[in-house]
Amino acid sequence: MTEEECRGGHDFAVIEAIAAKAKEENLGLIPILQRTQETIGYLPKEALRTLAELLHVPYSKVFGVATFYAQFHLTPRGRHIIQQCDGTACHVKGGPRIRRVIEEALGIPPGETTSDLKATYEIVYCLGSCGLAPAAMVDGKVVGRLTQDKMKRILASME
Ligand code: FES
Repeated sequence: MTEEECRGGHDFAVIEAIAAKAKEENLGLIPILQRTQETIGYLPKEALRTLAELLHVPYSKVFGVATFYAQFHLTPRGRHIIQQCDGTACHVKGGPRIRRVIEEALGIPPGETTSDLKATYEIVYCLGSCGLAPAAMVDGKVVGRLTQDKMKRILASME
């Protein structure tokens, strides 16, 4: 078994390079995790273990930081990110109807990613665009005044 296979298929050399550069630049744990996530797309536990070893930091600390901040993801993310708002304004203006369309089209509940990694579906609580309720953030852009048809068209246009 190669070292890479032994570490769950993640490229040890890539993480080693990130850790070495981070030491050179005297980076803290959060920017190191950000850089790792930017490079490999998410933070698999094997990568966190490797970072802990290379940085001589307890794994529990690395894991704790990675799970504390919402910006870090321990599972793979989809190519498209749908963050549907279920804050009060969006909820009363039809959020649950939009949710049904998304769940049906993607075949997953909130908090999951499709098996083909096409999309990740998440619920958020207020995007600061309550005047556009019901709203969602799709690939970083707020889309508002959603109807079921509008959401269906957005989902159908995703590659
Ligand atoms: S409640 Fe949905 S944007 Fe504020």
